[in-house]
Amino acid sequence: MSATCVIGLQWGDEAKGKIVDLLTAQNEVVVRYQGGANAGHTVVFDGKKYKLSLVPSGIFRENVKSVVASGVVIDPGAFLSEIERLREGGVKIEKNLLVSERAHVIFPWHKEEDKLLNDSGVRKEAIGTTLRGIGPCYRDKVGRSTAIRIGDLYRDDFDEKVRRICAIKNSYLPGLARNEEARAQLQTLDADAIIAQYRQYAERLRPFVGDAVNFLLEAVDADKKVLLEGAQGALLDVDYGTFPYVTSSNSSGVGVTAGSGLPATFIKRIVGVVKAYTTRVGGGPFPTELNNETGQRIRDRGNEYGTVTKRPRRCGWFDAVAVRYSSRLSGASELAVMLLDVLSGFDQINVCVAYELDGKRLEYFPSNVDDLARVTPIYESFPGWSEEINELTSYEQLPKNAKSYLNNLSRILGKKIAIVSVGPGREQTIFCP
Ligand code: GDP
Ligand code: IMO
Ligand code: MG
Repeated sequence: MSATCVIGLQWGDEAKGKIVDLLTAQNEVVVRYQGGANAGHTVVFDGKKYKLSLVPSGIFRENVKSVVASGVVIDPGAFLSEIERLREGGVKIEKNLLVSERAHVIFPWHKEEDKLLNDSGVRKEAIGTTLRGIGPCYRDKVGRSTAIRIGDLYRDDFDEKVRRICAIKNSYLPGLARNEEARAQLQTLDADAIIAQYRQYAERLRPFVGDAVNFLLEAVDADKKVLLEGAQGALLDVDYGTFPYVTSSNSSGVGVTAGSGLPATFIKRIVGVVKAYTTRVGGGPFPTELNNETGQRIRDRGNEYGTVTKRPRRCGWFDAVAVRYSSRLSGASELAVMLLDVLSGFDQINVCVAYELDGKRLEYFPSNVDDLARVTPIYESFPGWSEEINELTSYEQLPKNAKSYLNNLSRILGKKIAIVSVGPGREQTIFCP
């Protein structure tokens, strides 16, 4: 009985895709279990770069089943385009992909609502969503009465449901507009056109759709090795992240069983993935953000631009207060420290070890974003290293100060570092002794 889970412990883009691709070699099933096409996971091997959004990053290994589980919200258009791109790239997908009929479907009304509510005016700062309809789709799922699941696409009452939901949304959406301009941009939903398009999607998806829950429970019975791929990061978790500047699913360790349908007792290993520094895309507080030359240098060296929206990522020093919280919350059994190569050439590298709030030292991560926005980071400073490290293959070869940085991170976080990544490629990975 064993499953391994890969979870991002910051605000997403920690390079989970690379770790999932690597660990897939030791597994028989790979499962994406939450989030949707807001995720952008990158896998690089044999000189090629693949960008994945809904398809699990394990898809490149033959004889491994890739499952898109029930907790994912699926935009069928985005999903089918991704499948096409992979096919064109020579990736064999036909027998390897299974999509849960329980997963919820993203419709055009979700994207419209996302556009209207992303900057609702309720708070000064917009959430800065990916505008992929994620929040509104999860809201409809929890609200139940206007939701459609993958399995519903094949049932007799599908047309009727879409017609009724379109009528509801056509009367509801205009009321969400902040002003006349936003209202004028809103297009009336055309139920017939949506039905025709989604029927076509449904036919193209049919070969992949099935009862993923049963499949996974049988994998448990057969004692198969299962790898679970988290999307986003623990600090974007809807319940435990920097609410409301979060995504709409449980993207920390707490979401694994709900999203996959796998029993908690099956999960034996949780790999927490972190960058050697911190990035964030979209709104919300970010205590260690560097709005200066150093931040730009990290952005340039790390090519920190969003995989999905191409937005420049906000960059800053490693926030150990946040990761101590997210790694404990997620039950990380070990850490993978990614993009260490980006930090070559800095004289000093800072790690935030505590916050100061209203003159008091704070050792824990506050629950309220307005408090988090007011904290000042307290840093420990470590000497940097000048050498490029992209070609190193063992822990011993790392520069003395790089090793010392890793040891200090491990000490501050109270977690073992099992993997260190020094470049995007599969081979640019160091497994620690
Ligand atoms: P994910 O969403 O967590 O899978 O991460 P993304 O794919 O959005 O972002 C991680 C980026 O870093 C991708 O462009 C990767 O190819 C790249 N990457 C992964 N590991 C390393 C590394 O160790 N060094 C460098 N320089 N880039 C890396
Ligand atoms: P991966 O899986 C980084 C961020 C958005 C926004 C907030 C809410 O590649 O790590 P949403 O569209 O989910 O309602 O947006 O969450 N966000 C991500 N940031 N990586 C991601 O995914 C993200 N998915 C969502 O930028 O701030
Ligand atoms: Mg990403």
